[in-house]
Amino acid sequence: MSVEVNLIQELENIERSGLEALAGVKDEAALQAWRIAHLGRSAPVMQVFSRLGQVPKEQRATIGQRANQAKQKLEAAQAELEQALKQAALEHSLENMRLDVTLPGRTPDHGRLHIVTQTLREIYKIYAEMGFQVYRSTDVESDDYNFTLLNMPAYHPARDMWDTFHTTRPGVILRTHTSPGQIHVMHERCPEPIRVILPGMVYRYEQISARSEIQFNQVELLVVGQKITFGDMKGTLLDFARKLFGKEVRSRLRPSYFPFTEPSAEMDIECFVCGGAGCPVCKQSGWLEILGCGMVHPVVLQNGGYDPQQFSGFAAGLGIERIALLRHRITDIRYFWQNDIRFLEQF
Ligand code: PHE
Repeated sequence: MSVEVNLIQELENIERSGLEALAGVKDEAALQAWRIAHLGRSAPVMQVFSRLGQVPKEQRATIGQRANQAKQKLEAAQAELEQALKQAALEHSLENMRLDVTLPGRTPDHGRLHIVTQTLREIYKIYAEMGFQVYRSTDVESDDYNFTLLNMPAYHPARDMWDTFHTTRPGVILRTHTSPGQIHVMHERCPEPIRVILPGMVYRYEQISARSEIQFNQVELLVVGQKITFGDMKGTLLDFARKLFGKEVRSRLRPSYFPFTEPSAEMDIECFVCGGAGCPVCKQSGWLEILGCGMVHPVVLQNGGYDPQQFSGFAAGLGIERIALLRHRITDIRYFWQNDIRFLEQF
């Protein structure tokens, strides 16, 4: 037999066994393996090409042609199967991973702002409209700023109004109110006029109960200028109460005492639960206390660097949890810190 017949026969076998093997290929991985074995660099058909050099010249063209034919056939069969496998995979995924785009989506749980944060932001907004800037000072405070400079020297009996958390460093405490911020602002701004609010957490060493927590938020108000009057204070606070509690709200200023204001007052609003008739929320008085206030004491102005002969001012301190309690008729202040999602989700 000539080389020609031999090789032609061999190519036929190569082609046939290649196609037979391909018939057993069922997935992409097997196809890949088949491709390496039957069309790769050391595949039988490729070896025929490298042996062409040994074939007598006049037979070379015929055998070369036949070898090309075999290779192309295998390639075509491979491409066809590859296409079929892809199509099958696509159909499979369409069948099994069908997506019903008309199904209602799952709504993710939204986080939300804590009711105290919401209340604070409302208060910031109201005061921002009146031209107040927000000013902050630190929670850890010195005894001087928290008491002495606010007209309460050591052993002043009024210090007992605030049960204080002391630290191991003498003279370093947690602020019991936001009022020490008044002195910080005055030192920074003197002799300019002042119109700021000072929000922040305050701390009191008290028995925790439905009505009192050991830490809570206050917003301090401070206005200092050349001709600030008690009337300015009253107008500002009434305007605030109306914006927060509604236009119709009735309010009153009741004389009170704070060492750092003179005269001092507390502001009540008419109980919106009973409309003033008396109920458990207002403890039958018809009124709800929302803040302490007063004209800045001359000693405090002086401690801040302002000449009390030329300057006057007013200050107020709002208890934020208290305001939130009243507005939302929450019965226990401890809810604010309990982190019970059922409570928090209501707002
Ligand atoms: N700092 C006072 C308190 O915490 C409230 C207050 C502030 C009163 C400003 C008058 C003026 O009780």
